Amino acid sequence: MLQTAQEHNAIHTDLAFQRCINPRCGATYEARSVRTSCDKCGDLLDIDYQWDRAAVPSSLKEFEATWSERTNPVRFSGVWRFHELLPFAAQKELITVGEGQTLLQQTDLVGDYVGMDHGRLHLQYEGMNPSGSFKDNGMCAAVTHASMMDAKRAACASTGNTSASLALYCSATQLMKAVIFIGSGKISYGKLSQALDYGALTVQIAGDFDDAMIRVRQVSQELGIYLVNSVNPFRLEGQKTIMFRVLEALRWEVPDWIVVPGGNLGNSSAFGKAFMELKAHGLIDRVPRLAVINAAGADTLYELYERRGVRWNGGNVDMDPIVQYNDEMDREGKKADTIASAIEINRPVNLKKCLRALEFMDGVVRQVDDQDILDAKSKVGAGGFGCEPASAASVAGARMLRREGVIAPSDRVVCILTGHELKDPTATVAYHTTDQQVFNETLGSRGVQKASHANRAVAVPNELDDIIKTIQLYS
Ligand code: F0G
Repeated sequence: MLQTAQEHNAIHTDLAFQRCINPRCGATYEARSVRTSCDKCGDLLDIDYQWDRAAVPSSLKEFEATWSERTNPVRFSGVWRFHELLPFAAQKELITVGEGQTLLQQTDLVGDYVGMDHGRLHLQYEGMNPSGSFKDNGMCAAVTHASMMDAKRAACASTGNTSASLALYCSATQLMKAVIFIGSGKISYGKLSQALDYGALTVQIAGDFDDAMIRVRQVSQELGIYLVNSVNPFRLEGQKTIMFRVLEALRWEVPDWIVVPGGNLGNSSAFGKAFMELKAHGLIDRVPRLAVINAAGADTLYELYERRGVRWNGGNVDMDPIVQYNDEMDREGKKADTIASAIEINRPVNLKKCLRALEFMDGVVRQVDDQDILDAKSKVGAGGFGCEPASAASVAGARMLRREGVIAPSDRVVCILTGHELKDPTATVAYHTTDQQVFNETLGSRGVQKASHANRAVAVPNELDDIIKTIQLYS
């Protein structure tokens, strides 16, 4: 049974409280408690607020006033300058390392590749965060809550970016020790180097991300360690702000499409919640459509949503096809496998929240193969900023949807570039290499046939004449 606002007031002392996402359960819990699922029915939790007591502005434009308060670290933060839309902690409790200084770049070079009219394609560069990925948006929120709960250790399983982000926040704040679980050989060097350098306790499991995720949940429960994976509802509150910044960069105009890579489905879930709340507050009058892009080698959402017709259905998710598919994967020993290691995930923990987002945002799901991902990545790089392979799935997905006619050339499209180019230099160098063996070992083994847009280094003798001739020939 849902509780009334008065009942919430009586039970929960904070503005914020946790609420089960299952509308038939709707159980609520204190914000100042540590949970990753509902005690009553086991479903995921949302953070909800007594909005009538919150200081929600009457127009999004009012947030521009915070720009003049940038000397206050909390207002400098691209997350906390929207504090009024995620008010689960008091101002003095907020933790920031300067996350969210990201850029919405309009790019016709990549737009031409996708097939858009000029001026219509935008890339949201989340790689510009302190740890080099969008994860910092959520991590500052999770670490804020962890510190409110006086946690001394925080843990996550990770394909690399969550762990890099957690390790950074723990070392920069010295508030708690980071314990990270990674799969064997599954994490790119850029990300692993961050966790090691920032001093996290790094536990390498003989298995993949899905195995590490199961273990970290068990271990956190057993040892009372604060879990920061995206089953933590506070993390997703921070990730809502990626959408607030996209709107801010578009001078508060709503785009037609948000295109995002899908792994554990925290981002897509957070984006859906952001727009649900903005619409409920009357701060926007329409909602963009959502496209979630899986890698073909890790396509559970695509399989369930597009092929088996699984829907949120107002909260009545038919679990049978989901259970059946998980059983099939178990029987066949199916493991996720893609060059986009960040989204090499077959059992996304936020599946239900993502289904909710897809319903609210009239969403679609697509899968793109490693060839498409790397070709799109090279175009993003040529466009001047670069990203890691998983991020380029958004651009490859937008291109596919454009070709299908689902996205119109005149639509205003925002692709989220989730992680920095330097996170995975191995994939980039293998794509552009002149060494066939390096190409074959790293990419050919995954079905990538050719580097369609390779920019190959030119070998020249160490002779001035030859060097000059080469430059004249190629430029
Ligand atoms: N892009 C990058 C660069 C990522 O690191 C991730 C997730 C995603 C996309 C997918 O986002 O999980 O919200 O759907 N990385 C996680 C990690 C799983 O451990 O770093 P999602």
